[in-house]
Amino acid sequence: MASESGKLWGGRFVGAVDPIMEKFNSSITYDRHLWEADVQGSKAYSRGLEKAGLLTKAEMDQILHGLDKVAEEWAQGTFKLNPNDEDIHTANERRLKELIGETAGKLHTGRSRNDQVVTDLRLWMRQNCSTLSALLCELIRTMVDRAEAERDVLFPGYTHLQRAQPIRWSHWILSHAVALTRDSERLLEVQKRINVLPLGSGAIAGNPLGVDRELLRAELDFGAITLNSMDATSERDFVAEFLFWASLCMTHLSRMAEDLILYGTKEFSFVQLSDAYSTGSSLMPQKKNPDSLELIRSKAGRVFGRCAGLLMTLKGLPSTYNKDLQEDKEAVFEVSDTMSAVLQVATGVISTLQIHRENMGRALSPDMLATDLAYYLVRKGMPFRQAHEASGKAVFMAETKGVALNQLSLQELQTISPLFSGDVSHVWDYGHSVEQYQALGGTARSSVDWQIGQLRALLRAQQAESPPHASPK
Ligand code: ARG
Repeated sequence: MASESGKLWGGRFVGAVDPIMEKFNSSITYDRHLWEADVQGSKAYSRGLEKAGLLTKAEMDQILHGLDKVAEEWAQGTFKLNPNDEDIHTANERRLKELIGETAGKLHTGRSRNDQVVTDLRLWMRQNCSTLSALLCELIRTMVDRAEAERDVLFPGYTHLQRAQPIRWSHWILSHAVALTRDSERLLEVQKRINVLPLGSGAIAGNPLGVDRELLRAELDFGAITLNSMDATSERDFVAEFLFWASLCMTHLSRMAEDLILYGTKEFSFVQLSDAYSTGSSLMPQKKNPDSLELIRSKAGRVFGRCAGLLMTLKGLPSTYNKDLQEDKEAVFEVSDTMSAVLQVATGVISTLQIHRENMGRALSPDMLATDLAYYLVRKGMPFRQAHEASGKAVFMAETKGVALNQLSLQELQTISPLFSGDVSHVWDYGHSVEQYQALGGTARSSVDWQIGQLRALLRAQQAESPPHASPK
């Protein structure tokens, strides 16, 4: 029964809590997001209590019915918080007692907010990961579709941001899509480790009243049961892993955004962002700014910060539950919201982006075929090191003469190596250049098609594997 202070834990306390402390301690402003998971966990727990003989069937039904009403109030926006509601768990139990009376006091038998909160968080995250997973797959699919449609577009590939070799535009898109499929695979793995039941661990020592944890597991559709009550109530590895997953995914998206920002400048003019994802300048009328991409790039910093922040919170905690752990939730909610927005905006940007293929083609220059010239000599039998040197000499010769590499005459090339002959003219063809890279993973058409096929198969397999966790009822 609640004490005179109106608090569920108030029995041993006499004085009032400093109002500043009250606010400092409270987590209801954000853990209210867990209302549905909290009700779901409590319903399962009341079934466990009934099976253990701690509730009669009638009491259990009364509690289940009351919890449904609590959920209904949250869903309809009519749930009224009162100033003593410290967190979602106390709020829901307080309301349950108002609705069904003293029987509500039996619900917390053998349970602690320590096992309750981590159960709620796991339920919430499990559901949220499914949503993020679907958004990520949608982005990857959009990229793969685009790569398939624009396979014949060539443009310069850069290393050190210097023109390196001609590649297919699709090869660039797929390079980022492949990184994102690792993220999507990683999220499924994290989700498996989220999907473990801690309920029945109590505050620290476990459950002394014979609650069947296998029943709780089945009720809540968890994949496994935590092994140790001390660990279960205090480990937040699954939160750290989720935040790391988000950090790495943001790294990938931020790098892709950076490429697109560059490619969209007047200097490159390879791509043009749709108006739907750009903004203007309040001062310079000609400006169209890639704000969507800049924000994707910047949100990475916010997400990394949350990941580092949680690790700092966990490091050095003494065994089992400490209030420091309350800090995990804001990180999870904020990062989840950020990821959801970023993934949707990125999908929008990619699906509406315009490409300027002529500019892409014009940006290819004969010097980018210097490697091909070396390969030409390799195919004529010259060791690669010598061929590299010979091609370097050709580049130097063209530079000194002030002509493009492909403007050197056959006679001039033959002063460098007698292996050059008339068929060297085939080297000066960008289409021919990219088609050489037929080994799996390269930029030749057959290899790009293979990549597309692989990614589509991976997406299908991941979708089949993704646990379709319905929202908690
Ligand atoms: N609001 C708390 C949290 O988020 C719930 C657990 C409180 N447990 C405790 N022993 N005070 O972690």
